[in-house]
Amino acid sequence: MSEETTAEWSGPGIDNSTPSVARVYNAILGGRDNFKADREAAEYVSRLVPQVEQCAQANRCALIRGVQYLVRRAGIDQILDIGCGLPSEPNTHEVAREINPDARVVYVDNDPMVLSHGRALLDTDNATTVVTADLRDPEGILGHADVRAFLDLDRPVAVVIVGTIMQINEHEHPDEIIAALMEPLPSGSHLFLTAWPDTGEAAQRQLSQACLETFGNGWIRPVERLREHFGELDMVPPGLEYVARWFPEDPDAPVPAVADLEPHQHTQMAGIAKKP
Ligand SMILES: C[S@@+](CC[C@H](N)C(=O)[O-])C[C@H]1O[C@@H](n2cnc3c(N)ncnc32)[C@H](O)[C@@H]1O
Repeated sequence: MSEETTAEWSGPGIDNSTPSVARVYNAILGGRDNFKADREAAEYVSRLVPQVEQCAQANRCALIRGVQYLVRRAGIDQILDIGCGLPSEPNTHEVAREINPDARVVYVDNDPMVLSHGRALLDTDNATTVVTADLRDPEGILGHADVRAFLDLDRPVAVVIVGTIMQINEHEHPDEIIAALMEPLPSGSHLFLTAWPDTGEAAQRQLSQACLETFGNGWIRPVERLREHFGELDMVPPGLEYVARWFPEDPDAPVPAVADLEPHQHTQMAGIAKKP
């Protein structure tokens, strides 16, 4: 974790005394956009889950591979990245633009610090923006003036919810939230999720427990339950898979056997599905 960090400033709606998921994740990835409380929380989580940095890096790699698939193979040029987190190179719009320079991206997060740092990064970019909104309010997201200004919701959109759905409790109805996001979007739209499986393994329980203690969220779910998040959408091969085995651009690529994965490689799965 980086010793060098941004000044301990605060801003509207930003509480620098309590760890936030976005800032702790930033600290775990070695970023500088975090406060003392976040770094302490990151250290606590790392003590409980020594491989947490590898888990975060693996999630970022899956994000990049998923966006590459969406833009290069699925022809997507509009992305709604919900729970986008603080800027982390390469960002979704950078990955997408490398393949299609006209790709448009709207970042959404409920952490106000993401807005301030994202807007600074995107100052001169007129095809990408950041909005503060909550995944638990899908109608609010799709109806947001900036989302409507930047994306044409009559054309296919990829909804990217990476490293975030585990923060939505069952009683908040994650399937309904996702369905409400996907339902108004046209055929050809895609959903890209990474999520935390529960197959009874200790590493999965430890990661979940560390986040529940630190943030009050971070739920693991049986794989069948995670599949239900995709509703009636058509899964893109190889389906919902451990991220170390998930290569949507080349589903026939040789992949390690599940039995050969290290315990921390059992903590995250990824999947992309297409709206028929
Ligand atoms: C672990 S980070 C993932 C960041 C990025 N998507 C990635 O995978 O690298 C989770 C992000 O989801 C955001 N988040 C959590 N709950 C949210 C909600 N209900 N609505 C919007 N964003 C949320 C957090 O603020 C945080 O930035």
